[in-house]
Amino acid sequence: MIKNICCIGAGYVGGPTMAVIANKCPDIKVHVVDLNEQRIADWNADDFSKLPVYEPGLDEVVKEARGRNLFFSTKVDEAIQEADAIFISVNTPTKTYGVGKGMAADLKYIELCARQIASVATTDKIVIEKSTLPVRTAEAIQNILKNTGNGVNFEVLSNPEFLAEGTAVNDLMKPDRVLIGGSETPEGQKAIEALVAVYANWVPKENILTTNVWSSELSKLTANAFLAQRVSSVNALSELCEHTGADINEVSRAIGTDSRIGPKFLKASVGFGGSCFQKDILNLVYISKSYGLTEVADYWEQVIIMNDHQKRRFAANIVKTLYNTVSGKEISLLGWAFKKDTNDTRESAAIYVCDELLNERANIRVYDPKVSASKVYTDLDYLDTRSSEENESLVSVVNDPYESCKGAHAIAIMTEWDEFKTYDWQKIYEQMQKPAFIFDGRNLLDVPKLEAIGFKVYSIGIGK
Ligand code: UDX
Ligand code: ADP
Repeated sequence: MIKNICCIGAGYVGGPTMAVIANKCPDIKVHVVDLNEQRIADWNADDFSKLPVYEPGLDEVVKEARGRNLFFSTKVDEAIQEADAIFISVNTPTKTYGVGKGMAADLKYIELCARQIASVATTDKIVIEKSTLPVRTAEAIQNILKNTGNGVNFEVLSNPEFLAEGTAVNDLMKPDRVLIGGSETPEGQKAIEALVAVYANWVPKENILTTNVWSSELSKLTANAFLAQRVSSVNALSELCEHTGADINEVSRAIGTDSRIGPKFLKASVGFGGSCFQKDILNLVYISKSYGLTEVADYWEQVIIMNDHQKRRFAANIVKTLYNTVSGKEISLLGWAFKKDTNDTRESAAIYVCDELLNERANIRVYDPKVSASKVYTDLDYLDTRSSEENESLVSVVNDPYESCKGAHAIAIMTEWDEFKTYDWQKIYEQMQKPAFIFDGRNLLDVPKLEAIGFKVYSIGIGK
């Protein structure tokens, strides 16, 4: 029976997942550890609105369990030593060097974790892959554990996370399914049962699926690939709508009511972002190529090509509409996060659209309700297109949306934050340069209402 859990990695996955496990299983001690001291300090903050991950409802969940059976610290070795089950929730970014650069997952952090577990552990452990990993990573982890350990037994399970950011607490409390993959040996089955028992504290048994390890690893990658493919499909149609006079919202509703297709994930956008979709598809493409499956690789790669096209054409449309020049013009970007209700900006379309506009020498103002100024600059600096001094001189990050739009030539909606719908658009219009333009990359705002005020509106996927 699992009584003591250690989770390595206190990020967007590890933090919320462990908070919910601790909340639902008061008898299990849950210890979340991370090398990043600031992150741990933020998880331990007295003010629950300062947690490092913003998720609706997360503060309440942490408040109930923290100090009772949920602990955050940097004492990685101690937590490993005490635990019966260790979740690996560290980041697996796309490789930026060497073989597979730009495509394969960088497993450096995973391997370091496995080596650390092996060197510290003096009792048997169940080691659980939580991060999304290329299929057959468990084999590598098992090998490292076996060959470098102190002779104790390790059983490796795959238990991928399906939570979406912005709805993490609800997704964890009421998951569509929990997936647990393990080896087909008696020891593997015993480990699976132990982890099933943890989730069975709040998830109905029929929603807990068990498979072999490879199916579990591959299911996670492909679930994300299918979701991303739907967004790229609808975004491909959005461009066609703009040329034919169709309205993507109407088309989405019409196709989504077919029960075989379903209504979710058919919202046109400026392009998907987030830490998973692009990374996982690139991973899938890389794996397919490495098995010589060129057609399979090309098929999935097209999802990314479409997404890059959507971001670029949104920026190009702004430039074209503003009389083919934005040099020296003020453009206000509303939203920087990759979707609403999160402070995560990884792969956010806003970063790329901003970059294209900066290439055209625009002056950019950014407002996001949950993203800090330093994050915006870090994201831009990371692109390496221009120096951080240039980024700071061309981009200003403001705390007030009205301030951000004052005197601007155009506004671009990058994230679908609910609060944008409640603004006094009449007031914003009055304070802008004329003609005043809005480029709605999320199909969020009421186009006729804005046009009645006097705005010139482009909303993605709506043909005229
Ligand atoms: C995704 C998966 O949904 C989740 O199951 C997995 O565990 C991790 O990856 P996440 O990246 O948090 O979750 O967000 P998701 O809600 O899937 O959105 C991804 C991107 O697609 C966002 O940029 C979102 O704005 C965009 N999107 C989503 C659309 O553009 N249109 C849609 O209809 C849905
Ligand atoms: P995710 O979205 O997958 O949770 P994050 O980047 O938000 O990704 O979180 C991953 C966390 O893992 C980071 O806080 C990072 O500091 C931590 N981490 C990476 N490697 C290690 C390690 N070897 N030991 C402890 N923590 C680690």
